[in-house]
Amino acid sequence: MKRYDIAVIPGDGIGQEVVPAAIEVLEAAAEIHGGLAFNWTHFPWNCEYYLEHGRMMPEDGIATLRGFDQIFLGAVGMPGLVADHISLWGLLIKIRREMQQSINVRPAKLLRGLQSPLREPKDFDLIVVRENSEGEYSEIGGRIHSGEDQMAIQNAVFTRKATERAMRYAFELAQTRRNHVTSATKSNGISHSMPFWDDVFQAVKADYPATASSSIHIDALAAFFVMKPHQFDVIVASNLFGDILTDLGGAIMGSIGIAPAANLNVERQYPSMFEPVHGSAPDIAGRGISNPVGQIWTGKMMLDFMGYPEIGGLILNAIEAALSDGVKTADLGGQATTREMTDAILRHLRKQS
Ligand code: NAI
Ligand code: MG
Repeated sequence: MKRYDIAVIPGDGIGQEVVPAAIEVLEAAAEIHGGLAFNWTHFPWNCEYYLEHGRMMPEDGIATLRGFDQIFLGAVGMPGLVADHISLWGLLIKIRREMQQSINVRPAKLLRGLQSPLREPKDFDLIVVRENSEGEYSEIGGRIHSGEDQMAIQNAVFTRKATERAMRYAFELAQTRRNHVTSATKSNGISHSMPFWDDVFQAVKADYPATASSSIHIDALAAFFVMKPHQFDVIVASNLFGDILTDLGGAIMGSIGIAPAANLNVERQYPSMFEPVHGSAPDIAGRGISNPVGQIWTGKMMLDFMGYPEIGGLILNAIEAALSDGVKTADLGGQATTREMTDAILRHLRKQS
């Protein structure tokens, strides 16, 4: 029996509802596998914790988390209580940076049983590999002067190391799929960092001669996500481009409530963190109607990363089977509660064992 220590941070709002649901599904999956077990350790770090302690996590929080195999997170943010930049940078971004989770992986796939907002979509199944540590989301810059002299400068940072790491990850991933990598660029408008990005892409792709590749400007790429998403396999993008593309990826699937994500420390020196794309949804929190699918699919990604893609696959099958039965939460146009959606997935999961 292999045991894994997982740090659980449900966080705020619906994180408190969907994380327990996903843990139930992961427990059932482990039972089906038979050779795998989880120790879940819960941490109450969220906006209420901040109001009590003046910080989102204890001073030794990062050191504590380093002792775990993986981190399973719901969502953080309660804008009515704590400003978003404090809750985000004090927990989520802090963990991503200090654990060197330099790559963010976000799939978008047409699920069986779900209505995409696209009219007659062909079967799409793509993965965006987003550089997660630098790029446009750097802290370098500042603001000076006031009144009409006001100005702001924000510097984007692209290092050879991080750019190459994201691209290599994309090529390796493509080799396990349909063997095509698309680079999201904008070297026609951004004259230093994006030509650099293109140069690194050319150099990396030379090491993967059997993998097809293309380079597309981000504006055109966004349009193609709507017009012909089925043409893409793996897309590698900078931090900002990847962020925007993946919300679009969630949208063409049918709801942000189903989109999963993983923040990977690819060197496996520190734990990786698995969290859905959606936030804490304060508008529906506490009513038991949130969609657990994003969090459950995120759990599947954790299993994949840990080396159990077969049972990860069973989870995705169970999700699609439940949706095909017509069990849907309100965000998907149905009436199922979080409990009912979770139960339907559990039922289909156990049926496959
Ligand atoms: P959000 O994703 O929380 O909500 C956007 C809309 O989608 C809302 O109408 C919400 O009800 C709906 N929604 C989201 N997830 C759902 C689910 N699982 N089931 C059903 N409906 C769902 O984004 P919003 O409102 O911009 O942010 C709320 C808070 O969450 C903010 O404090 C924000 O900073 C934080 N946030 C945190 C993230 C994280 O921890 N990774 C990511 C995005 C936002
Ligand atoms: Mg985003």
